[in-house]
Amino acid sequence: MNDKKTIFSAIQPSGTITLGNYLGALKNWVNLQDDYNCIFSVADLHAITVRQDPKTLRKNILQAYALLIACGIDLQKSIFFIQSHVPAHSELAWLLNCYTQFGELSRMTQFKAKSLIHKNDINAGLFTYPCLMAADILLYQSDLVPVGADQKQHLELSRDIALRFNNTYSPTFKIPDPYIAKTGAKIMSLQDPSKKMSKSDANVNAFIGILDDPDVIMKKFKRAVTDSQADVRFAQGKDGVNNLMSIYSCVTGLSYEQIEQQFAGKGYGDFKTCVAQAVIDMLIPIQDEFKHLMKDKAYLEESYRNHAQTAMKISYKTLAKVKRKIGFIS
Ligand code: TRP
Repeated sequence: MNDKKTIFSAIQPSGTITLGNYLGALKNWVNLQDDYNCIFSVADLHAITVRQDPKTLRKNILQAYALLIACGIDLQKSIFFIQSHVPAHSELAWLLNCYTQFGELSRMTQFKAKSLIHKNDINAGLFTYPCLMAADILLYQSDLVPVGADQKQHLELSRDIALRFNNTYSPTFKIPDPYIAKTGAKIMSLQDPSKKMSKSDANVNAFIGILDDPDVIMKKFKRAVTDSQADVRFAQGKDGVNNLMSIYSCVTGLSYEQIEQQFAGKGYGDFKTCVAQAVIDMLIPIQDEFKHLMKDKAYLEESYRNHAQTAMKISYKTLAKVKRKIGFIS
């Protein structure tokens, strides 16, 4: 191994990946690959904490794998595997369950929120989800984990679990820090800019899927909620326009001042068309590469198998250490 720090992150294979996921997270992952040892995963074990249709899940896992490669995850630089292919994740998750308190898990806001949505399936996996996430991170002795606001509490719990284990036995896990990206924005809903852009939004006009057709993208931007003024300006109370400016800035690299100058005296119609076009131009090569990859199942299979092998080698070292410290015999 080299002296670069290790970064771990994962994404759930639950349907569409949105423009928000791309600009807020994935684009950063891609940029990290030169400076860190990056380990990325499709978190299929996490996905089954809510009921999944087998056929759809199967399709979504492969699509997520291909789409992330299309977005720029480089299989020569990074390790990129499917979580359920590396048994150490399930195994360590069980062990960590026994070092995590009921009270701690009960305080997780995502568990509380999901319990309300899935009233008829508040399963034990949904409850101990953070232990699996801790296992993901700790198996690779990760230094840094890029997480959005919604996963911050889970990362903090991972740190607590790791510290507790280290203190009970002896140093075993590296304590991971959150990675705060220098760039990368929080992209909001196009229909209600006070809410985060989410693929689970009941209104499909609220989010852009990375695989949306160009004319659909154009339509969605044209319908985006703005305000009754007509100036493209980043200011308080202009959440809709601010969000579009932030998207445009992420995609083009222009500053807010430059964007304000570009659209001075122009209406929202022109602005929305330009934002949509910039997004389309950015996504077309990704969509093309995705289609190309999906035609080559053999390549995808070979890649995720090889990468799972690599992940297995690294993760088993940590798992073996943990089992030894607990007192299991080998
Ligand atoms: N739970 C994360 C999410 O839903 C995905 C995830 C699984 C993850 N394991 C992880 C993120 C480990 C960071 C580190 O977004």
